Amino acid sequence: MTGEKVLLDCDPGHDDVMAILTAARYADLVGITTVAGNAALEHTTRNALVTCDLAGIDVPVHSGAAGPLSGPTHDAVHVHGNEGLDGVEIPRPVRTTAGADAAGFIVETTARTPSLWIVAVGPLTNIALALRQDPALTQRVAGISIMGGGTFGNATAAAEFNIWADPEAADIVFGSSAPIRMCGLDLTHQVCADGEFIAWIEQLRTPLSAFVAALLDHYAQRILELVGEDLAALHDPCSVLAVTHPQLFGFGNHRVRIELDGAHTRGMTVIDRRVARGPVEVAWNVESAAVLELIRQAVASA
Ligand code: BDR
Ligand code: CA
Repeated sequence: MTGEKVLLDCDPGHDDVMAILTAARYADLVGITTVAGNAALEHTTRNALVTCDLAGIDVPVHSGAAGPLSGPTHDAVHVHGNEGLDGVEIPRPVRTTAGADAAGFIVETTARTPSLWIVAVGPLTNIALALRQDPALTQRVAGISIMGGGTFGNATAAAEFNIWADPEAADIVFGSSAPIRMCGLDLTHQVCADGEFIAWIEQLRTPLSAFVAALLDHYAQRILELVGEDLAALHDPCSVLAVTHPQLFGFGNHRVRIELDGAHTRGMTVIDRRVARGPVEVAWNVESAAVLELIRQAVASA
């Protein structure tokens, strides 16, 4: 535990599960909010609750936005499955949600928790709604650590999924005065679960490790089928660790704009690398082995 206070906004999703476990292990996790993204909101919310059940994580879970601020609703069920966690039998959750107003919960929690980090690893809809509701939130938080964007895309040639799924929300968040730390695809593709990583988790032989190993095994296979590469990137826990273990990351400061139009580029993060003095801390490099070890330990100790 590093003492950093974190509210995690997520759309589980295989790698979101790893983010929940990592946040519970290394941060003072004050709550989880869920958003539609990888799968529909009812599924991402259920998956967050199930993860908390299996890992014994006792924090309030609030569901939030069922779709983007505007534009079509996109999902990533071709990667994560219709219910967001293909590869395992998803149990019925024991825990229940504490509310259905994620944005309200974010506003309240940032008001009563000094130096809180919001770690956002799904589409940024809930965070944008919270900023709309209370723009002064930007001055209260320690920062917003985002998994999203990059110099290339995965949802389209130019856009990463979380930004592409709600570009207007991303524009509000990146256009705010909140301190922003960003782990895009350039960074998260350096943190991949390979066969050895998954086997190590499997040999822990706990109910949680069996669940996680089956999830990661499926995820790795699916990515291999889709992109033809062993690229099971553990995107989302990177944004947690960028808060709790920033010494393992190399950052550059850049201005980042969100492309809202563009025949081929909607949802792209336009990172201005001409001057290294912008407001967003973009993570470019990471000590991959150390980060993977921290994630493994998070599963082992849950
Ligand atoms: C991001 O999109 C989702 O599919 C993952 O959970 C991650 O947050 C990677 O582009
Ligand atoms: Ca996610």
